[in-house]
Amino acid sequence: MKIILIAALASNRVIGINNTLPWKLSADLKRFKALTTGHTIVMGRKTFESLDRPLPGRRHICVSRSYASDHLLPDPRWPEQVFWCGDLFSALKHLKREIGATNDIPIFVIGGAEIYTQALPLADALELTHIQSSFEGDAFFPSYAKMFEKTDESFLDEGEQKFSFAQYKSLRPENIFVRRANKSDVQFIANAQIKMALESEGLKLNPQKVEAGVMAVLNDVLKGEYLVAEDMSSQSHCPVGCLLLQKEWSDWRNGAFLWIHSLYVEPTHRRKGICHWMLTVAQEQARTLGALGMRLYVDKGNRDAQEAYRNFGMGGGHYDVFELEF
Ligand SMILES: NC(=O)c1ccc[n+]([C@@H]2O[C@H](COP(=O)([O-])OP(=O)(O)OC[C@H]3O[C@@H](n4cnc5c(N)ncnc54)[C@H](OP(=O)(O)O)[C@@H]3O)[C@@H](O)[C@H]2O)c1
Repeated sequence: MKIILIAALASNRVIGINNTLPWKLSADLKRFKALTTGHTIVMGRKTFESLDRPLPGRRHICVSRSYASDHLLPDPRWPEQVFWCGDLFSALKHLKREIGATNDIPIFVIGGAEIYTQALPLADALELTHIQSSFEGDAFFPSYAKMFEKTDESFLDEGEQKFSFAQYKSLRPENIFVRRANKSDVQFIANAQIKMALESEGLKLNPQKVEAGVMAVLNDVLKGEYLVAEDMSSQSHCPVGCLLLQKEWSDWRNGAFLWIHSLYVEPTHRRKGICHWMLTVAQEQARTLGALGMRLYVDKGNRDAQEAYRNFGMGGGHYDVFELEF
């Protein structure tokens, strides 16, 4: 299965306004139809609602958190054509099992903004229509440049409107999906932190305390957000890495920095580009959020981690961290 995100975006990354498209571009609609007909399309609840009716010749997988189930449930109005699922990642996993992991059968993720943002790190390829002017809007395509490489682009115009069709391939390590963590990840993340403290600082953490600390984040998005890297090559789809993102407001800069904490990759999965990929995903999420930059601190003796961050392009800042523990 090949996950392809298909979208049309303006030069300011606008993709929609008031739950509609801000432009009329018949060449783009024709291309969308030609690419997606006969295939499965995955979308968010709002994008489905923006359609008058299901699109002919395509199976629709729609996601909404109001569905408690992570199975695909047929829509009673169009039971053959439209299915609902309570979780985007579970829907994609289900499709992967059904379609097969190793073939190139495409499934198209067709939006909108919320779904593109979450599906971007899972995508194999992008089919983007770049509209070469800016538009007013309230829905935006996420930042993606560091995660993909452009493989082709053709330039066209329709009336006054200039645009291009571009293809991109993902730079992610094979079979590694990075996604937002959920409560079922608590044990993995807590164990990862316990192992990291021992490995990097020789510290023995209290497992109950760490588990409660991780759960506190999973219960309250204001405390931060974990990303989890999952190895999709085995049937068990096990998590192999994680990191924690936290915002810090800067009054000097009138904006937020994104702090990276708790970055851990299982020893069996190191030197495969997973740490670099998780940082890349975090970096693009930070850009999408309009953050000023990313920061982290690292133990002074942890040379391997320091080298990994330098390789990513992060430099030693000009601050020393002072602390007073209570
Ligand atoms: N230019 C393009 O190519 C293009 C393509 C598609 C759409 N669009 C535009 O994009 C805009 C819509 O984007 P949007 O971000 O507002 O909405 P959206 O992404 O279409 O749908 C968001 C909804 O999806 C559900 N959802 C999100 N993440 C989920 C998850 N992990 N698991 C389960 N359900 C999840 C939630 O539904 P519940 O609230 O029901 O829980 C959420 O409110 C419109 O303006 C549309 O015209 C543009």
